[in-house]
Amino acid sequence: MLRTNNCGELNISNIGKVVTLTGWVQRSRDLGGMTFVDLRDRYGITQLVFNMETNAALCEEARKLGREFVVAAMGTVAERSNKNPKMSTGDIEIIVDKIDILNTSKTPPFTIEENTDGGDELRMKYRYLDIRRSVVRDNLMLRHRMAIETRNYMNNIGFIEVETPVLIKSTPEGARDFVVPSRMNEGQFYALPQSPQTFKQLLMVAGLDKYFQIVKCFRDEDLRADRQPEFTQIDCEMSFVTQEDILETFEGLTKHLFNAVKGVNISALPRISYADSMKYYGNDKPDIRFGMTFVELTDLVKGHEFKVFDDAEIVVGINTSGCAGYTRKQLDELTDFVKRPQIGAGGLVYLRYNEEGSLKSSVDKFYNEEELKKWVAAFEAKPGDLILILAGAANKTRKALSELRLEMGNRLGFRNPEIFAPLWVVDFPLLEWDEETQRYYAMHHPFTSPKPEDIALLDTNPGKVRANAYDLVINGVEIGGGSIRIHNKDLQKKMFTILGFTDEDAQAQFGFLMNAFEFGAPPHGGIAFGFDRMCSLFGGSESIRDYIAFPKNNSGRDVMIDSPSPIKQEQLDELKLRLKG
Ligand code: AMO
Repeated sequence: MLRTNNCGELNISNIGKVVTLTGWVQRSRDLGGMTFVDLRDRYGITQLVFNMETNAALCEEARKLGREFVVAAMGTVAERSNKNPKMSTGDIEIIVDKIDILNTSKTPPFTIEENTDGGDELRMKYRYLDIRRSVVRDNLMLRHRMAIETRNYMNNIGFIEVETPVLIKSTPEGARDFVVPSRMNEGQFYALPQSPQTFKQLLMVAGLDKYFQIVKCFRDEDLRADRQPEFTQIDCEMSFVTQEDILETFEGLTKHLFNAVKGVNISALPRISYADSMKYYGNDKPDIRFGMTFVELTDLVKGHEFKVFDDAEIVVGINTSGCAGYTRKQLDELTDFVKRPQIGAGGLVYLRYNEEGSLKSSVDKFYNEEELKKWVAAFEAKPGDLILILAGAANKTRKALSELRLEMGNRLGFRNPEIFAPLWVVDFPLLEWDEETQRYYAMHHPFTSPKPEDIALLDTNPGKVRANAYDLVINGVEIGGGSIRIHNKDLQKKMFTILGFTDEDAQAQFGFLMNAFEFGAPPHGGIAFGFDRMCSLFGGSESIRDYIAFPKNNSGRDVMIDSPSPIKQEQLDELKLRLKG
């Protein structure tokens, strides 16, 4: 190699050693008699020293080094007089005898240091420079470790990694597909997989028994901090298993990753039903790092001439311990928060249980102290607590209160990213009714098995059928989801009928799967983890982009390679595609 050592490994034990280091010039400081250069590579930073007195010509050369020049420096390791305990190499420096410039660099558009002056868009345009920064590099290294630990763990418990195709068939369920025109099949299109769902099921029919894959998935959906159009799953499937077997197996993987990558020991994962999750947390991905669970007051508060409560389908609140001292301004802020259009509550009712024992509510006109004491009892509130209450249509109000709960969790410091609270949410409904299209949609996907005890309800009350489906939720983020699958052709056919498919459509779209079910399909089930989400959770960031080497921006663009982009007329002609307009 062009170097004897890297920039992160030399220390006091190497004093006197003659070394050659290579890397990028992070910064140089010219102090007259001495010039100091910080040399950076993937492993760290080492200080190079050039002394005017002992080697003036070399020192002149060093002064000419620009930021991000690529150099090879030969010299001797020496103890630093001014040590830097923050750096692994902070006890030493290299007294340089010779320096070779391996390549020059234009001045970078932003500073390539831990704290940069580069804005998001600029850093994405020059992502290869951004990745030189230790923070971004560390994120990619965390991702690498997660992948290696996953592969090792899965291999050790008998799973085999199988690659499934990327050019597949468009299907109408789920998110929108990205499609790819086929030159050889005029007018026909491949779709990029939203997940390898049907292929992994076919691998079970094929008898592979335990499959996993760290795999790219593609979904043309609106982007958010935790959504990218192309993202990665740890995709898994197993045969001859019950839901319990799957939860245990992947609880094992989850614990292993926490232990191996974060050094965190996770105890048995709690489980909560979808119904309870909605009842107590207002959503299906509860952040259980803190309590503040919902208390329903609907029956208790009706009939006191307070129209908002009387007209409400549900009256529900949370007890924020120790917040009775909130000022008028703070309460107004919370009211504004819940009234924001994206949250959509009409207003906020509060009840303070003051430290000295008195009660003060925003609806004192309608409820006397005796009534308010009943509220206090319902919330098991203590002096110093503040009760926050919303009222209205059930689903919307629960959703709004769940946002308020998270906001209060933030304000009270309960959402520490270094604390991890994973859990399973189980017993999801099989189907969701959509008012707009007047039809049922599969809550997970159409291959999910109903709970055997609920199958009879498919004919009478499909909306009540529960699925053998589960999500892994950590700190309020849906990290993974899966289900026991249907492995019987007739049941699968019935499912498609309930979802509004004609027999012909079902056969055209999913005939390959239903046909396979006629050749001895074993009972099977699985799960997929959002790998990018898992990495960002482990790294303590909300944005999965920080853990993807070359991510897309919020408009789905890669600003570095400038994609998507128009294609040449010849390409369009070859594909027999004509652009409208
Ligand atoms: P699901 O659609 O729930 O299940 O996806 C599994 C996990 O993938 C992650 N995820 C995403 N991450 C980043 N960007 C996105 N756009 C995105 N969409 C989803 C989430 C989610 O929990 N085939 C089924 C799994 C199964 O049944 O085995 C599936 O894809 O963390």
